[in-house]
Amino acid sequence: MIEKINRLLEEVASLTATDEKALEELRIKYLSKKGELNALMAEFRNVPAEQKREMGQRLNGLKTAITEKLAELRAAVATTDASHDDLDLTRTAYPIPLGTRHPLSIVKNEIIDIFSRLGFSLADGPEIEDDWHVFSSMNFAPDHPARDMQDTFFVEQQPDIVLRTHTSSVQSRVMETTQPPIRVICPGRVYRNEAISARAHCFFHQVEGLYVDKDVSFTDLKQVLLTFAREMFGADTRIRLRPSYFPFTEPSAEMDISCNICGGKGCGFCKHTGWVEILGCGMVDPAVLDANGIDSKVYKGYAFGMGVERITNLKYQVSDLRLFSENDVRFLDEFISAN
Ligand code: DAH
Repeated sequence: MIEKINRLLEEVASLTATDEKALEELRIKYLSKKGELNALMAEFRNVPAEQKREMGQRLNGLKTAITEKLAELRAAVATTDASHDDLDLTRTAYPIPLGTRHPLSIVKNEIIDIFSRLGFSLADGPEIEDDWHVFSSMNFAPDHPARDMQDTFFVEQQPDIVLRTHTSSVQSRVMETTQPPIRVICPGRVYRNEAISARAHCFFHQVEGLYVDKDVSFTDLKQVLLTFAREMFGADTRIRLRPSYFPFTEPSAEMDISCNICGGKGCGFCKHTGWVEILGCGMVDPAVLDANGIDSKVYKGYAFGMGVERITNLKYQVSDLRLFSENDVRFLDEFISAN
């Protein structure tokens, strides 16, 4: 019996199978009711009592060897057997759908890209900010309505700590630590005490720009903004600057672009004017330079600020601001190809 077991052990070690059919034949030969293993089990009954222990162990060893060998062959057949036409080796290993970048991030990155190419670097500042950086250093009069609780979220009062209402606060953060030349853009989230609707939200995103150097003129500002508009909305885009007012710039302007939906002919989106507003800008008020440690007799600057939601709405015609913060996957999925 020992001989038989040893012979079978050798035989099993050198078994091969190339397909399911051959595997099944081997299983029948060794493990079925009438197979080799069962035949030995039948002989086991006649083994003298004193040898039963040793023989039992040997038989168990043989059984394990056969089962393991067949499992090994089965695994090999499963990966090579051409009869498995459902096995597609070119399939992606993990069919998990990839996420998409948020539309506001896509547009923010595009804005950053354009200004980086024009030599601007990135600057950053805190969202919880003091009155000085948000208002006073930016030349807001003490009784300016923006300082009212109806417009601004207060975190603490006296001294006033607020959620920044605009990224212009980062202008002040940069100027207090850096002497010109300064060329920065500052993307970030801002907060205003507004009732949430399709057209307004209590938080949104801006990108601020600041350029300070000797001999900076309004023409420089206009050229940079024209380049930005064309890069962002297409080479045919025209711009127009309308006089406006901001405490921190003098002169100040608001910039419109030719409506990118109707090409300037007039449509419902641009209220039939052919123009849509996209940002505020101007020459940095000398009082702002001086308040932030830059000599306004030597240096001049320009600044601009735009809403990322506004630019995204124009590029992708998103009509309800709330979609940006609800994170509905059906909405986000629409931006897969823009990534
Ligand atoms: N801070 C302004 C706002 O939140 C936007 C702005 C306008 C920024 C003109 C500027 C600027 O830098 O020059 O509405």
